[in-house]
Amino acid sequence: MLDKLNSLFREVQDTSIKTKEELELFRIHYQGRKGILAGLFEEFKTVPHEQKRKTGKILNDLKMAIQSRIDAYTQESGSPEETSLSDFDLTRPVTYMEPGPRHPLSIVRNQIIGIFSRLGYTVAEDREIEDDWHNFTALNFPEEHPARDMQDTFFIEKNPDIALRTHTSSVQIRTMEKNQPPIRSIFPGRVFRNEVISARAHCIFHQVEGLSVDKDVSFRDLKQTLLYFAKEMFGDDTQIRLRPSYFPFTEPSGEMDVSCNICGGKGCNICKYTGWVEILGCGMVDPAVLENCNIDSEIYTGFAFGMGIERITMLKYQIKDLRLFFENDLRFLNQFKGAF
Ligand code: PHE
Repeated sequence: MLDKLNSLFREVQDTSIKTKEELELFRIHYQGRKGILAGLFEEFKTVPHEQKRKTGKILNDLKMAIQSRIDAYTQESGSPEETSLSDFDLTRPVTYMEPGPRHPLSIVRNQIIGIFSRLGYTVAEDREIEDDWHNFTALNFPEEHPARDMQDTFFIEKNPDIALRTHTSSVQIRTMEKNQPPIRSIFPGRVFRNEVISARAHCIFHQVEGLSVDKDVSFRDLKQTLLYFAKEMFGDDTQIRLRPSYFPFTEPSGEMDVSCNICGGKGCNICKYTGWVEILGCGMVDPAVLENCNIDSEIYTGFAFGMGIERITMLKYQIKDLRLFFENDLRFLNQFKGAF
């Protein structure tokens, strides 16, 4: 038997195992129920008593040599035996995964919502694909009026009555159609314009529009609301100024600048050395718009304003290129860790 064991040692070392199939054949040949080892252990029973110690030791060594060839192949090929659910320790504590930071546009959007919520404004959202009535006509853009050229619109080719909304003012109309005053709401959302993408413009961007309609709402209320907003957003020292402007749906209309929070009004390249940066459009809701929504303009007045979230975020965090918001570059996004 000793001779047999010795030649088996050589055989075990010399067998080539290159594939999974060869490994399986090897395993069955030696370790199978009717395999070589089983036969040897059977034969071992007949070994004379005085040889049992020595033979037993060699037999055990052979058994281990067979196993170590199997282990070596498994390690080398990196293909462990199939695992089953019982191989997993489900009670093991998980490794901590840091949550991803919020997108800067979401952070600022939430801040804007927070500021106006504290003033009692509710939040409403609506569709991004709009009809002509809600995006233009009800907002007092006359048919074929050049005012429509103010906004380069993405129309649906098959139906020019449907477009991607160019501003969230469409939600003003939807809200007034459904509710009678008092109305005090803000409308955050994504808007679309056919713009060439650059550091300062994109064909997709985000706005928050605000609307307040009630008895005796005046321009003073608008101004005070916007001043409060500017101070909350950019700091207590912030000043505002209103310049006359034009929107078809407000009369009078204005644009609001805030004092440049980067140079403190001294002049820098962000404010183009004027000390002021424009952040929103606003005005008193045109009575014709109220009437389009069945609100009695003899009883009620209102103000509205609309701002771009990108612009405010760029100012707040001194971001110079708007395209960064859409590239999902983690080196950019990870700088907003911890902000909500
Ligand atoms: N809708 C205007 C725009 O997109 C902004 C605006 C909203 C102006 C409300 C006045 C009142 O530019």
